[in-house]
Amino acid sequence: MNTQPAADAQGYRDAMGQLLVLYTQVDQLIMEACAERIATAPDIKAKLGLAKQVGDESRHVAIQREWMHRFGTSQTPLLSEAQQSAIRDHFRDLDWVDFLTDMYLCVEALGSDAVEQVVPLADPGTRESLRLPLQDELDHVAFGVERLRQALADMPASDRQAHLEAIPQRINALGGIFLGMGLGLRALFEAVGADFDQLTHSVQRRKTEILGEVAMPAG
Ligand SMILES: [Fe+2]
Ligand SMILES: [Fe+2]
Repeated sequence: MNTQPAADAQGYRDAMGQLLVLYTQVDQLIMEACAERIATAPDIKAKLGLAKQVGDESRHVAIQREWMHRFGTSQTPLLSEAQQSAIRDHFRDLDWVDFLTDMYLCVEALGSDAVEQVVPLADPGTRESLRLPLQDELDHVAFGVERLRQALADMPASDRQAHLEAIPQRINALGGIFLGMGLGLRALFEAVGADFDQLTHSVQRRKTEILGEVAMPAG
């Protein structure tokens, strides 16, 4: 991976600006999906975890919006209204276990891994804007993994096994939908100096790691 920040290049600024817009849009969608989920979450601890996350994501959106304004690049949304609606609908229709899988393993853990790949390549201001959000994402992933392990532990053994076996497929399907949205992710990541193939490998490694965590018995 190229570790030389190209902070002065216009191509870098435009692409990083677009990635920041996308990250902020995704955080806002996560905030909305988690807020909707509070009412039907299975217990008070889950409700409190989701509510805390809504507050965290709200702060991330505010930090990123403030930074994008100062960064001065285009804030035109990457995700269209229709794509945003599709994402909201997707999360709204899921049962608790699938919600945990898609939200925390796919979006939070793997999405954050992709964002983390960009941090060493970023200009100091962008890096600082990502610091606190990425710290919080670790909490969100921990919450999701713990709740997923718990939900799996509460199932009969054969259901648990079937769910575990279906998780990689779910992650690939959702990842495929996101990559198929025509956002030009490869070009954007490459324009900020990332090696997209290496980034994809890193996300795959993270996937294997987190699947291992989920498969461990609930503690
Ligand atoms: Fe966030
Ligand atoms: Fe998060």
